[in-house]
Amino acid sequence: MKNILVTGGAGFIGVNFIKMLLNTTDDVKIINYDALTYAGNLESLEDCIKNPRYVFVHGDIQDKSLLAQTIQNHNIEGIINFAAESHVDRSISDPDIFVKTNVLGTLNLLQNAVKFNIKRFLQVSTDEVYGSLGNDGKFTENTNLSPNSPYSASKASADHFVRAYNHTFKLDTVTTRCSNNYGPYQFPEKMIPLCINNILANKNLPVYGDGLQVRDWLFVKDHCTAIWEVFNHGKTGEVYNIGGCNEKTNLELVKTLLRILKRPESLITFVKDRPGHDRRYSIDNTKIMSQLNWKPSVTFEEGIELTVKWYLDNKNWLESVTSGHYQKYYSEMYVNR
Ligand code: NAD
Ligand code: TYD
Repeated sequence: MKNILVTGGAGFIGVNFIKMLLNTTDDVKIINYDALTYAGNLESLEDCIKNPRYVFVHGDIQDKSLLAQTIQNHNIEGIINFAAESHVDRSISDPDIFVKTNVLGTLNLLQNAVKFNIKRFLQVSTDEVYGSLGNDGKFTENTNLSPNSPYSASKASADHFVRAYNHTFKLDTVTTRCSNNYGPYQFPEKMIPLCINNILANKNLPVYGDGLQVRDWLFVKDHCTAIWEVFNHGKTGEVYNIGGCNEKTNLELVKTLLRILKRPESLITFVKDRPGHDRRYSIDNTKIMSQLNWKPSVTFEEGIELTVKWYLDNKNWLESVTSGHYQKYYSEMYVNR
């Protein structure tokens, strides 16, 4: 039995990762350690509660004593750190919490990982640490870090601490840097579920600036398989880029959603651009594909159909996460934009 601490397991990617591990392994026990911020939702994990290989601990990664106690009580051998503040727009209006969770929280995890001789620590990072590309080129693992938003600055800072703990304390670490994910259970502050939610509510789709920014979309299940591959077979101290080879402009993306849901393009509304908006992300996958034999398995066309279908089949989930605080967030972010 491998006992793994999965932090942030009640969020979008964490939920998908936990379900994947419970379904595809039989010797892994998951201790999901999550603070349940606005982005964490235990309803998403209802089908896991009765599984003896799943335990939930309500905790903040900044909490030194609860983290130490959890690692000891559950004989944790490995840590996979998903916990983060993850939305660029929120990092522009409220950056402090990004430093607290993403930087200080990660540092606390690293300190405890050293103290309790954790065998492997995987940091879930992002391609956004590399900054922005022009029309050409791709991010490789050797691209310099040039974060442009408070979110990506906090993630880059965490990546540096992970590197430093590998170098200084010989902690066995690996870091993954993935492109934009989409799929079931994503909170509707992010572009794809926000647009699906708006289409279902017959609201306009807010496209920032000219809508020609490019993102490289990866179906969340492929991100999860890549993380598990890197956790088990990645080389200590190394970074692995993960991408979908699916570059789309934001306009192409929203038009696809409108086409699938049979709604008119007149719902598209151009709104004031995000300050410092990164123009293009694109991932060079060569390292993970050649060294770990991983590749994306879901095409964009399949993945986006599956995603829309999931939101249509799970309207209760969508209603539950968009009640309460979401309304306030939405009006502050979009009304009068
Ligand atoms: P999310 O915002 O959906 O979920 C974050 C989870 O972390 C939530 O369950 C939240 O409750 C928890 N959390 C937040 N602060 C915490 C704290 N202080 N202590 C404990 N738990 C805390 O995020 P996501 O989209 O699932 O992203 C997961 C990770 O993947 C993040 O580290 C993010 O930077 C990275 N990432 C995301 C994407 C993407 O497209 N979503 C792409 C690349 C990398
Ligand atoms: P997002 O899902 O926030 O991910 P990220 O900023 O981490 O790439 O946004 C994806 C793209 O969509 C990004 O270029 C910003 C753009 N966007 C909009 O045009 N309108 C919106 O309402 C949102 C949330 C994002």
